[in-house]
Amino acid sequence: MSKFIVSKSLGLCGKVEISGAKNAVLPILCACILTEKECVLSSVPPLMDVYAMMDILKALGVKVQYDSVNQIAKIKAERVTKTKEEYEMAGKLRASFLVMGPLLARRQKAKIPLPGGCQIGTRPVDLHLKGFIKLGAKIKQEHGFVMGRCRRLVGSHIYLDFPSVGATENIMMAAVLADGVTVIENAAVEPEIVDLAEFLNKMGAKITDYGTGAITINGVKTLEGANHNVIPDRIEAGTFMVAAAITGGDIFLTNAVPDHLGAITSKLKEANVDIEELAHGIRVCTKGEITAFNLKTMPFPGFPTDLQAVFMSLSTVAKGTSVITETVFENRFLHAGELTRMGADIKIDGRIAVVDGVRKLTATQVKATDLRAGAALVLAAMTAEGETEISDIFHIDRGYCLFEEKLIKLGAKIRRED
Ligand code: EPZ
Repeated sequence: MSKFIVSKSLGLCGKVEISGAKNAVLPILCACILTEKECVLSSVPPLMDVYAMMDILKALGVKVQYDSVNQIAKIKAERVTKTKEEYEMAGKLRASFLVMGPLLARRQKAKIPLPGGCQIGTRPVDLHLKGFIKLGAKIKQEHGFVMGRCRRLVGSHIYLDFPSVGATENIMMAAVLADGVTVIENAAVEPEIVDLAEFLNKMGAKITDYGTGAITINGVKTLEGANHNVIPDRIEAGTFMVAAAITGGDIFLTNAVPDHLGAITSKLKEANVDIEELAHGIRVCTKGEITAFNLKTMPFPGFPTDLQAVFMSLSTVAKGTSVITETVFENRFLHAGELTRMGADIKIDGRIAVVDGVRKLTATQVKATDLRAGAALVLAAMTAEGETEISDIFHIDRGYCLFEEKLIKLGAKIRRED
């Protein structure tokens, strides 16, 4: 198993290019099932999760060509020869459940493994299934699989009890070929939803009001192939913004989108970090001491749960006491235990973490518990005295491409050991 060895690296500086968004490209890869024509996707990041999703598509009979150097993927679902997803493949990737909507729309049937729980929570799919049932699908669950069947999906009015990102994406992809009009109320409005809707509309779908809480989808008979450039990864961008803040550095992020990062920019300014939004990117530099802050994770445009861990790392060495509330997932503080091993002062009470800033962290052995927690430990290790060993970094490879290469270019002392 690989691990990272990270030494104290203060004052990261230079330019970093933000890659395509993992959480945009995964649903967009699934959407390619909806047409037998070729789709050409650019800015497709060479991530473990992307390879895993491509393997799932290939297993369904979809043709996949991927040029990982130029980050271009050509996907052609001329025939979808299988409608059952294998358990072993799905297990690697919770997002594998996102093929269910496209399979129901394209083949009127699907047999998908129920996504198991993971480190951050149980990850239920009840909202996805309620949406499919409203569209006319018959849904059965047995032996750890969800079976769906329908003659032809029919448009419906769906209300989501929670603005679930995955449920919004899955239902939208099912509804684009349904008979009639579908409205998804209390829909997620994340930038990744907007990117998926724009890709679907390029294919000939008729989706309006996406990015607002109520998406309207006028079903069409067929969809064409399309070319699409995936949006930059706002979570990767936020991670590098905190890398500048926690090391007292000065980093310019090219290809970052300020509109996707409002909550992050505002929180970093609160913590006494200078942010400059320029035409072609964002500059982050730290002049004075980092000061404590309070944050509460919320659906977009609120503070993103995926950056809670890296901001907790920042709070461990901030001046004062920070209060961090995780409202989206029920178990997303596992990194707190690892940070405590490095000398952080964190008290957890349910979904609230109280962090008293300490003067410095110290190096030790820690373990990545999920991909965002892994990134948080790398950032914390860059401020710690000594050499920190971070194991289970396969989690990080799922969601950050060329992570250590990008950090080394900024001056970080980090190496991968197999
Ligand atoms: C997506 O997960 C992202 N993954 C997650 O990123 C992200 O943390 C999450 O959205 C929230 O922004 C991808 O896009 C591949 P949800 P998803 O459905 O779709 C509950 C990362 O690190 N819920 O919005 O699974 C659920 O339990 C990953 O890149 C139901 O109760 O998130 C959770 O508490 C981690 N029933 C909350 O909603 C459902 O049917 C948010 O889940 C679906 C969800």
